Amino acid sequence: MGDREPGPFGPAVDETFLRGIPKAELHVHIEGTLEPEMMLDLARRNGLALPYASVEEARGAYDFADLQSFLDLYYKGMSVLLEKQDFYELTLAYLEKAAGQGVRHAEIFFDPQAHTGRGVPFETAITGIREALVEAERRLGLSTRLILCFLRHLGAEEAMHTLQEALPYKGWIVGVGLDSSEIGNPPEDFKEVFEEAARHGFLKVAHAGEEGPPEYIRQALDDLGAVRIDHGVRCMEDPTLVERLRDGRVPLTVCPLSNVRLRCFTSIREHPAKRMLDQGLCVTVNCDDPAYFGGYVAENYAALRDGLGFGREDFRAVAENSFRASFLDESDKERRLHEVASFFGR
Ligand code: HPA
Ligand code: ZN
Repeated sequence: MGDREPGPFGPAVDETFLRGIPKAELHVHIEGTLEPEMMLDLARRNGLALPYASVEEARGAYDFADLQSFLDLYYKGMSVLLEKQDFYELTLAYLEKAAGQGVRHAEIFFDPQAHTGRGVPFETAITGIREALVEAERRLGLSTRLILCFLRHLGAEEAMHTLQEALPYKGWIVGVGLDSSEIGNPPEDFKEVFEEAARHGFLKVAHAGEEGPPEYIRQALDDLGAVRIDHGVRCMEDPTLVERLRDGRVPLTVCPLSNVRLRCFTSIREHPAKRMLDQGLCVTVNCDDPAYFGGYVAENYAALRDGLGFGREDFRAVAENSFRASFLDESDKERRLHEVASFFGR
């Protein structure tokens, strides 16, 4: 099991240690950081009704059978976000928590179509988020990037329209991604949208191989040109694909608690994160939708320690991978990698 006790090779891998590891977060949906407390406060402030009377009732409803059953509540929950200030407070609250867990750099997804679709202007959402990113960079000393995700269940035409809406804000957005209901919405459907995004200089990532088959990971690479795969855990069913991901050093943004809560695996002990790392894949560990899945990045690290026996060297590897896989420039990557090295001792 993981090194919970102090030993000859260093301090105990306890909660303080896990939170102290300098790390990048590469897979977090800002709307998935909406804690029930804030959801109820915003509902009150904005004069909206929610299906939950209390925080406990909301948390009690977070019992998911699969990705779709989560998404249904996720889209309902975020309907309390109406004003720029709401997006600002949401984003700042996440970054404060993340900074307290050793996050030095955060690449954050947002789902503009989930807002524009209910009448909230693109501009309202993105300016609220942007102002919080700027404030957090100044106040908390972390760096950030914003990634626009297309909702795959709405199809390619809607995605193209959203890309056009994003162009005036292109300086604030580093890349595009693809999320929402995976099965039945293959990456290949979004080939043209991603080509157009690349023409405008956006980097490309995509959720693939969370619930969907290994073939979707191949499509994300071949048809979309994704440089990073979000989740990607189902690659383990296809040894040829594993080899390709390993040899190409394609980063995978793995979210263990999410996978367990959405029943991709029956328990953390069945999660492939350790096998993935041991097979040489570039595994990073992330929180996905922490308000819904029981924890932020440090809780995901702790789950790997407790469920899969991750020890110091495994955490060193995932922390190093997190910066290598990030969209930081090379000199910032080097600076953060030095920080990881001095944390663990060379
Ligand atoms: N998968 C797909 N879409 C999502 C997720 C996820 O884990 N979280 C928020 N939107
Ligand atoms: Zn996700």
